[in-house]
Amino acid sequence: MALITFSSPEYKDKTVYAVAGSHTETILKIAKTNKIQIKFDCEDGECGSCLIRVKSVDDKGRMGYHLTDKEKEVLRQLGKLSSEDIEKLSVDDLPSEWRLACQMIPRDEDILVEYGLE
Ligand code: FES
Repeated sequence: MALITFSSPEYKDKTVYAVAGSHTETILKIAKTNKIQIKFDCEDGECGSCLIRVKSVDDKGRMGYHLTDKEKEVLRQLGKLSSEDIEKLSVDDLPSEWRLACQMIPRDEDILVEYGLE
């Protein structure tokens, strides 16, 4: 079980439970289920409209995640990650702060998801 707190400059923070390990529920899907207004369009990791910033809620450090190939490309195009950043994240198995909500499947950790960012 993971606790996900959604935070945006426009809306009040909302914390929801996510069943970790389902391997199917993306952050975007969880947001939609809980009526959280993350912008989206393609839902397929191509348009970049569902950009989110993911942080740890405590200082324990986050679990490693793999970015999907589409996500790497879009985050690079948006100027959020450089090719060097992407290389380093993958070599060191580190989580990226920037993600696409339609591509990220949460793991068993509590996180803060910022959305509605420019
Ligand atoms: S909705 Fe298009 S990249 Fe996520």
